Amino acid sequence: MNNLRGKTLRATGFHAPVCGEIDHFDDSLIRIGADGMIEAVLRSGDDAYEETLRSARQSESLVDLPDDAILLPGFVDLHIHAPQYPQLGNALDVPLEVWLQTYTFPLEARYADLAFARRSYTVLVDDLLASGTTTAVYFGTIHDDANRLLADLCIEKGQRAFVGRVAMDNPEECPDFYRDAGVAEALTGTAGLIEHIRSHPDNKDERVRPIVTPRFIPSCTDELLGELGALAAAHDCTTQTHCSESDWQHGYVLERHGMTDTESLDRFGLLRSGTVLAHGNFISESDMEKIKVRQSAIAHCALSNIYFSDAVFPLKSALQKGLRVGLGTDISGGPSASMFDSVRSTVSSARLLERGTDPALSREERSRRGDVRIDFREAFHLATAGGGHAVGLPVGSFEVGQQFDAILVDPDAPRGTIRLWPDLYEGDQILQTILFNASRANIASVWVGGERRSGHDL
Ligand code: GUN
Ligand code: FE
Repeated sequence: MNNLRGKTLRATGFHAPVCGEIDHFDDSLIRIGADGMIEAVLRSGDDAYEETLRSARQSESLVDLPDDAILLPGFVDLHIHAPQYPQLGNALDVPLEVWLQTYTFPLEARYADLAFARRSYTVLVDDLLASGTTTAVYFGTIHDDANRLLADLCIEKGQRAFVGRVAMDNPEECPDFYRDAGVAEALTGTAGLIEHIRSHPDNKDERVRPIVTPRFIPSCTDELLGELGALAAAHDCTTQTHCSESDWQHGYVLERHGMTDTESLDRFGLLRSGTVLAHGNFISESDMEKIKVRQSAIAHCALSNIYFSDAVFPLKSALQKGLRVGLGTDISGGPSASMFDSVRSTVSSARLLERGTDPALSREERSRRGDVRIDFREAFHLATAGGGHAVGLPVGSFEVGQQFDAILVDPDAPRGTIRLWPDLYEGDQILQTILFNASRANIASVWVGGERRSGHDL
């Protein structure tokens, strides 16, 4: 099962190509091409099913997955700070602006040391693959060698990724020990990483892509923001940044630029197709419209928003307006590297919008707030196909033309058994139980582009 390219898989599982709808497939055949793309999907009962099964058997290309194992699309994590992995679950006790200066900038500054970067980035990519994250959108640091190393590790280990060199040159908001010396340094470094990734001899399938990465408006001068927008256009490269994350950040941009983050990023040319805006908690209706028109996307980081924004992103409203949205762990603003936790916190935090923090609100008053709930079906879609759509990659579902990025869940893992009660529950309910109870122990195999990149045979 290491290499499924050229094979036909017989599998049972779930995917959610459409937001809010779960498609449960049973003993389906999935034919995977030599390039890792899904070439055919056949349900039992389809006309060609028996014939396809017979010929796959004959040519010895049939791979029968174990009966009790459940196939899911790999996760797309839209927002990860790679250098912050060592402080995951740590340093969550202060507001964003204090957290950055006290804990985060000193940690990121350590990546000037390439040996430290190698130690940290190696376990990060290994752990994320083992956790089922088949596509990762990374912020790196200001250090060119360490950023190249992160991209190289993704290519070597086969993780689909966007890797960005963080740009931050504003002496007012960035410390002397961790800041770009000037606009030129940030631009040269960013262009260098784009070139490195695009010309890498082992990256022919563009498994890893560059992404232009101003940290956020407070940490950048206007000159740098404008130049990065121009650079992204010149290199036909997408972008990522933080947008209207906390009240402090949102207020800072209103005061410095007299407009919202979204409006300001747009005038610098930083809202592009596939742009990932992390958080977006304080965006307005007209910001949403602008983000939609530009085909940019929101990385919804529910756990991090609780710790650093005291806010819940109005996800339902964004979805109803047709925005592209995916989920992000925001390692280490969020204390978990698992996209299962992102799914769970997306569901639970949306419930808080119903009555906010006011325990006095009655049921009737709450219902007047409208439809704000997010259920597991929507959250699962956002963690997979929604994320893929956000960044314009053919991943996140088992449809013809998609890359075969998948995880195999073993509910019977010896040290992590998930009780499914199949005599009581079926279909979507099984998926719900898995989403809310699975741990890394249950992820038996992880494939990217049809090649196994983590795990073992069952
Ligand atoms: N805003 C600017 N930098 C960061 C960061 O590293 N994490 C989060 N959550 N927000 C930011
Ligand atoms: Fe972040």
